[in-house]
Amino acid sequence: MPLEDDRQALFILRHHRRFPSASHALVEEIGQRIFILTSAASESMDDRLVFFHEREDSSFSAMTTTPAFANLTLIRHPLVQHKITLLRDRRTPTKIFKELVDEIAMLMAYEATSELSLDPVTVQTPLEQATGFQVSGKKLTLVPILRAGLGMVEGILRLVPSARVGHIGLYRDHDTLEPVDYYFKVPSDAAERDFFVLDPMLATGGSAVSAVSSLKRAGGVRIRFLCLVAAPEGVRRLGKAHPDVPVYAAALDRELNSQGYILPGLGDAGDRLFGTR
Ligand code: PRP
Ligand code: URA
Repeated sequence: MPLEDDRQALFILRHHRRFPSASHALVEEIGQRIFILTSAASESMDDRLVFFHEREDSSFSAMTTTPAFANLTLIRHPLVQHKITLLRDRRTPTKIFKELVDEIAMLMAYEATSELSLDPVTVQTPLEQATGFQVSGKKLTLVPILRAGLGMVEGILRLVPSARVGHIGLYRDHDTLEPVDYYFKVPSDAAERDFFVLDPMLATGGSAVSAVSSLKRAGGVRIRFLCLVAAPEGVRRLGKAHPDVPVYAAALDRELNSQGYILPGLGDAGDRLFGTR
């Protein structure tokens, strides 16, 4: 069923598991700004999304959505999965852990920004005038949740160097597991910006819900949440409190233990990132 899409330069073909062999020809045939939905051939827990930018398919592999977690997009790119596995390894030292968080955040941001809207612009090349695109609106704003979210900032800034950076200070009380907030600073024109809240771990979801609530109180409207490892409990809690906030994760793990740690997880992200165990 073809639908008009108001975003520029994106063709989205939703399909089941495999990339349909005829899809390249299909994409060639359709005009710009068309959103195509093809029905799944059979029942599955997973559907895949493939994003087409203009006439070429993304060099990244498909992202996966899961009907059980409608707010969640898992980023299945092989490099992301490879690096997440290294991150989980208890033998990975602080220096490498930090580099991996940085690299995974950058790779995830490539996918999480794939639906940003674009405005057409013209530029003068050395030879003639060309039409192109620029990301609409004000500069993107990254909002790391302190401390561990800080580890995701630099990697994303390499991809979006002009992004602004706000900060939300929260720590999880060890006994109640509820977040305690101690700092909040984001740009004042929050309503006009696209926010990416960053935290490697989405465990009970308490910190994420609190961070997004604070951001909304400050006027934030378009908010996405990026984490490396998510627990089902946290995805559900965030989805219930803020159904309008898409969640991107590299892994959806099994469960939480009685101390609120994700299993199998990767341990305490802040401690491993900053060497404070
Ligand atoms: C960790 C993590 C998240 C939070 C997730 O931070 O970085 O912010 O726990 O848990 P939740 O989903 O149950 O709220 P922590 O509170 O350990 O603080 P830190 O980053 O300063 O180490
Ligand atoms: N915070 C972490 O750093 N790790 C977990 O597994 C849960 C919360």
